[in-house]
Amino acid sequence: LTNDGVYVGQFTAVGTYYSLLELSAISFMDEVEVGFYNKENQQLIIKIPWLTEALGDAYIIQKRNLLVYHEQHFRWMMHFLAMNDTNHNRNHTVQLLADCEIDNDIKVKSYIHIIWDGEEIYRIDEEVGQWEYLKPEAKQYQHILESPFWTDLRKRYMNQFCVDFMKKIMGYKSIRDNVPPEMTVSYRVNTEGSIILSCTATGFYPRSIQLQWEKNGELGVWGKETSTGILPNMDSTFYLRLTLELPPEDPGMNFTCVVEHVALKTPALYSVPGKLTKEKSFFLALGIVLAVILLLSCAGAFIVWKKRCTGLHVMRER
Ligand SMILES: *[C@@H]1O[C@H](CO)[C@@H](O)[C@H](O)[C@H]1NC(C)=O
Ligand SMILES: *[C@@H]1O[C@H](CO)[C@@H](O)[C@H](O)[C@H]1NC(C)=O
Repeated sequence: LTNDGVYVGQFTAVGTYYSLLELSAISFMDEVEVGFYNKENQQLIIKIPWLTEALGDAYIIQKRNLLVYHEQHFRWMMHFLAMNDTNHNRNHTVQLLADCEIDNDIKVKSYIHIIWDGEEIYRIDEEVGQWEYLKPEAKQYQHILESPFWTDLRKRYMNQFCVDFMKKIMGYKSIRDNVPPEMTVSYRVNTEGSIILSCTATGFYPRSIQLQWEKNGELGVWGKETSTGILPNMDSTFYLRLTLELPPEDPGMNFTCVVEHVALKTPALYSVPGKLTKEKSFFLALGIVLAVILLLSCAGAFIVWKKRCTGLHVMRER
């Protein structure tokens, strides 16, 4: 179990050789949109309320100013890349995708992709530190991309938007106490007749969690598994659902969802409330009868105990 997160910054610019017409930036954390900016109103909008508090106003203003400052860089990119177009008034798009992954406060992966009119032309894996030129004509700007100015800008950008941001959020969230997940396990049959089991964990903190399926007490992959990925809830806890579509011959008996989370001392097991067979119904009925008998006898014991108790109380009052 690790404390990690994935940050993605996605910029989309529309413009011509002469001007930058539109620019929008969206940032995602673990696949959920967290911030939005556009050139038109030059505001940075934070989409998750608790993040506004975690980041602080000063930080948000500083980031917004940086985004305004970065507009010129997209204007330059547009200008250079559209240079060969015979029609200088034609619209083009530049997209810049920056993604990075943080693991225990350390940047473990970081990439930048530059996409021109829908085709990726430049890419860099920051671990390697060398730009890749994915189109022969893109190579003519190698000296610009690899110049100290752009190299420094790229590094600063990645540190400010990815590393700082993630650390800030993680620092805030670790103030919380650990919360174990609330679990729901369900069984249904889809329209094609396949059995779908799903196991949902929500309200847990921190983010790291593991859900797995066990059949007859054995871990394994028993069908087609799909996962929502770990998603943030509004209250800075997390959500994860793991679904298992069983092959047609599997009746879906004896399945258990196994959850591991730091707030649970040991892995917890949640069995699937499958269809009841005759035998199971019999045991269930027996179980209910036993429970009722137990309840009645307890109630009896309770009355006796209460009498004794009242007796003591009365004695003390005297
Ligand atoms: C170019 O893009 C701008 C902004 O998106 C748009 O308003 C304009 O109509 C586009 N022009 C052409 C010729 O497509
Ligand atoms: C622009 O034209 C020059 C000269 O014809 C060529 O070398 C270069 O690769 C072209 N650049 C782009 C981006 O198409």
